[in-house]
Amino acid sequence: MNSETVSDAITDSNEPLLQIRDLEVGFQTQRGLVPAVRGVSLSLYAGQTLAIVGESGSGKTTTAQAIINLLAGTGNVTAGEILFEGRDLTKLSAKEIQDVRGRLIGYVPQDPMSNLNPVWNIGFQVEEAIKANDVAQGKAARARTIEVLQEAGLSDAADRLKQFPHQFSGGMRQRVLIGIGLSARPKLLIADEPTSALDVTVQRQILDHLGTLTRDYGTSVLFITHDLAVVRLVADNVCVMQKGRIVEAATTDEVFDNPQQTYTQELLAAIPGANFEFGR
Ligand SMILES: Nc1ncnc2c1ncn2[C@@H]1O[C@H](COP(=O)(O)OP(=O)(O)O)[C@@H](O)[C@H]1O
Ligand SMILES: [Mg+2]
Repeated sequence: MNSETVSDAITDSNEPLLQIRDLEVGFQTQRGLVPAVRGVSLSLYAGQTLAIVGESGSGKTTTAQAIINLLAGTGNVTAGEILFEGRDLTKLSAKEIQDVRGRLIGYVPQDPMSNLNPVWNIGFQVEEAIKANDVAQGKAARARTIEVLQEAGLSDAADRLKQFPHQFSGGMRQRVLIGIGLSARPKLLIADEPTSALDVTVQRQILDHLGTLTRDYGTSVLFITHDLAVVRLVADNVCVMQKGRIVEAATTDEVFDNPQQTYTQELLAAIPGANFEFGR
């Protein structure tokens, strides 16, 4: 817990919890370095939810994965800083970032089916995550597993531990991943399109539940989505991303009331009428 004590000591409540400055991420290919994130800067303050919104391929997932050093394949941070409680995460060793990931920064990945192993039961997978994040060990880990699943909204968690991912609905699988992401009570949760694969009713239930949990725990959230209707439900502030750059950054109300960029206006126009009427 040493790193936590050190980072607590340098926390200033006026400073952002997460501050990304001029971040550049590229993927090495046979044609050379292909840029995916091009000069991204953003700030997220304690207790707030910041959404990154943009069409597929705009660099949202790459930005998220750069924060916790989980870039796929040949992805690499080539410039910029990612300050978390004042520490530049891009400068940490593999061991140091491992201590941050899970415990200080939780992560809900984009695709639950490829992030739950089909051959292991749910209880085993949640328990392993809990142990890996040092939330609990031994017998306590099994008890905590049930709690984590209950908190995530699976009321019959104890009966479901022995079930496999294919026996869970898409919404239930997503609840499992949210439970894992929040299990260590991280200061920041990165949620990458956590409900995009779900139908609108289930999506709404899970977003409500995620909002309740993160409010109760005081967790800051970096919420990634291609859907501005979802932004309105969850976020205080928004960054609109296009082709690796942030083209508009504002409060959620400003983006809906007075979008500045044509691209943002197009994203707003793409919201189906039924979703557009959701209050926050
Ligand atoms: N594993 C990878 N290898 C090579 N290029 C990648 C890889 N992942 C993403 N990219 C590139 O990065 C760009 C941004 O992708 P991504 O961050 O996944 O966008 P989003 O999450 O907004 O859909 C893509 O256009 C793609 O060209
Ligand atoms: Mg993505």
